[in-house]
Amino acid sequence: MGIVIDGKALSARVKDEVKARAAEFERERGRKVGLAVVKVGDDPASAIYVRNKIRACEACGILSFSYCFDGGEKQSAVIELIDALNADKRVDGILVQLPLPKHIDEKAVLARISPAKDADGFHTVNAGNLFLGGDATGHIACTPRGIIELIKSTGEPICGKRAVVVGRSNIVGKPVAMLLLQNDATVTVCHSRTKDLKEITRTADILVAAVGKKHIITADMVKRGATVIDVGMNRDDSGLYGDVDFDGVKEIAGYITPVPGGVGPMTIAMLLANTVEGAFSRNE
Ligand code: GUN
Repeated sequence: MGIVIDGKALSARVKDEVKARAAEFERERGRKVGLAVVKVGDDPASAIYVRNKIRACEACGILSFSYCFDGGEKQSAVIELIDALNADKRVDGILVQLPLPKHIDEKAVLARISPAKDADGFHTVNAGNLFLGGDATGHIACTPRGIIELIKSTGEPICGKRAVVVGRSNIVGKPVAMLLLQNDATVTVCHSRTKDLKEITRTADILVAAVGKKHIITADMVKRGATVIDVGMNRDDSGLYGDVDFDGVKEIAGYITPVPGGVGPMTIAMLLANTVEGAFSRNE
């Protein structure tokens, strides 16, 4: 049976480091690190994520500024808020929780965030830096950053490994593929149109499942000894489920992340790390 990677324990260690760095920032600059969290609409999952992010800020000595718009809000109001946050010296990081309601243009909103305050790393400048292998410190998408830390925590090298990412979203699939490539893995990205998915996933030493479909990855799709990272957060009436059929796959995998308690806590920890690193690098 594979070893279950404890995302909660790893995230606690990252948060301890963030807390120390946030205290250092306060000593040096005479103010706390600040993160603005913007929620638009009433998506129940977003409400949970935003609440958890705000709580995590408090626990690490980061000031949080919270803004909630109801779903009927005009795009111009959201843009105006972002302009104000870009100019606000107390704010080091800005996060707009996704998804946004349909009448709001996600690209336009994300493009308005100052790249220097882009705690999620979703701005084209930061996504471009990641693509080019340049310096995107403090501005790398949080879930992909957390996934790399989870893989590294196993002690198994990434260099030279065959990595398969299932899912090609801008939030997870594409950026995690880039990070794996930067870490010298040989990377394949699969998606809804991929033919013979199982043939490809079975070659993976590192398998990242970021599809958003309950238990789409089953034991027969996994190579023995593989490191399996489950990004799925699929809620239904009976609970929260990953993209990986954990009970079956854990018998085959070398290492596996659970849901909950795997990737989720690391996403929040890396958001805090991004915010503090971003604060230090802004030099204001
Ligand atoms: N929605 C799902 N994941 C994320 C994330 O990492 N950041 C934001 N802002 N929204 C999300």
